[in-house]
Amino acid sequence: MAMELIHGLEGVPIAESAISFVDGQAGRLEYRGIDVEHLAEHSTFEETSYLLLFGDLPTASEFQCFSKSLSTHRRLKYRIVDLIKCLPENGHPMDALQAGLAAVGMFYPERHNMDAAASRLACVRLISKTPSLVAAFERLRKGDEHIAPRDDLSLAGNFLQMMTGKDPDPQQVKILDVSLILHADHTMNASTFSGRVVGSTMADPFSVTSSALGALSGPLHGGANEDVMALLDRIGSPERARGFIEEMIARKEKIPGFGHRVYKALDPRARILKKYAENLSASTNKPHFAIAVEVEKVVQEHYAEKGIWPNVDFFSGIVYSELGIPRDCFTPIFAMARVSGWLAHWLEQIANNRIFRPTQVYVGKHDRPYTPIDKR
Ligand code: ACO
Repeated sequence: MAMELIHGLEGVPIAESAISFVDGQAGRLEYRGIDVEHLAEHSTFEETSYLLLFGDLPTASEFQCFSKSLSTHRRLKYRIVDLIKCLPENGHPMDALQAGLAAVGMFYPERHNMDAAASRLACVRLISKTPSLVAAFERLRKGDEHIAPRDDLSLAGNFLQMMTGKDPDPQQVKILDVSLILHADHTMNASTFSGRVVGSTMADPFSVTSSALGALSGPLHGGANEDVMALLDRIGSPERARGFIEEMIARKEKIPGFGHRVYKALDPRARILKKYAENLSASTNKPHFAIAVEVEKVVQEHYAEKGIWPNVDFFSGIVYSELGIPRDCFTPIFAMARVSGWLAHWLEQIANNRIFRPTQVYVGKHDRPYTPIDKR
C-alpha cells in the first residue's frame, strides 16, 4: 500500500507533551496550563524557565535556589572567550552561539552519563551561559572587551549590562524579560522537533541545544524578525506601506512576520509585543512602529479571512531595535529564551525515549546497471 507523504509533517503528532499548548483558532498559548499572558504580566523569565523544566511554579525556596544557581553559572571559561575572539567578526551571531554552545559542552564530560542532578545542572548552565555567549560575541566582534557577568542582576538585566557595560534601565529589563517569557516555548515547532530528534539518540543536552539552534536560525523560523525590519526599512514611511504591500501581494510574495502553521488568529505574543513596541516607539523618532501598523492593516484587509495574522516576529524586531540591540542579535535573543523550552522537551523526551527513525516515500529508480567510468 502506498504511504501518504505529509509535507512538513503538518498535523502529524510526533510526541506526547505536557509542556505547552496552543489554541490556534482562539490565539491562546499556555505553558504547563498557565496562560502566557498571565506569565508575561506576573512572572519572570527565571520562574517561567523553572515552570517549563519541572512542570510547576516553584515555591519561594525552590525559586531562590534555582535563580541563585542560574546567576552563579553565567561566567564563561577564558578558553571559551578566546574561542569567540577567534571567530570572524562578520560572521552571524547565531553561528557564533552555535559554536560556543557546542564548545561549552566539551568542558563537562559528565554530559555523556547523566543522572537527574547532572541533567538539572546542564540545563542551568545552558540557560545561564547562552546570554553570556551572545553578549561576548557582540562585544568582541566590535573590538570591545568582554564584560564579566554580574550575579546581582536578573538574567535579562545581566544580559543588557554584558552587552553595554552600563547599569541596565529597569523598564528595558522588564520589557526584555517579558519578551524572553513569550519566546520560551511554543509546542512542536521546527527547532524543538530538531532538539527532540537529537535528544532521542541520547546525545548530550549541549548537542541538543546547538542543533535546535541551527534549526531556529532559518528565515522561516526565528530569523523572520530581521526580515521584518528590512521590510519596514524598504517601505520607509507609513504613507508608502499600502502600495508597497499590495505590490507584494500581487506578486504573491510572502510578507515576513505574518502567517503561522498553527495560529489562524492573532498570535497572543504579537499582541503583547505590539503594546511594548508602541510604548517604546512613542519616545523615539523611528518610523518602524507607524509603518508596521499600516502594514498590519493592509495585510489584514487582504488575508485575515485566510487566517494570516501577525506572528511573534512582526513586533519583536521593533522592540529589540528600540532597546538598542543590533539586528543580527534578534534571533540569538529568541534562542536565549527558547533554550528553556528546548531543554524542557529534552527532559520530557529522555524520560520516555524511543529514537526517532521515520520513513520515506522512495521516488528513485531501481535495478540500474553499473556503467564503468570510461563508458559514461
Ligand atoms: N504572506 C503572504 N501569504 C502567506 C504568508 C505570508 N507571510 N504566510 C502564509 N501565506 C499563504 C501562503 O502563500 C499559502 O497560500 P496558498 O494556500 O494560497 O498557497 C498559505 O498562506 C499557507 O502558507 P504556507 O507557507 O503553506 O504555510 P505554512 O504553515 O507552511 O508556513 C510560515 C508557515 C512558514 C510561518 C509562513 O506563514 C511564512 O513563511 N511566513 C513568513 C515568515 C515568518 O514570519 N516566519 C516566522 C514564523 S513564527 C516563528 O517561527 C517564530
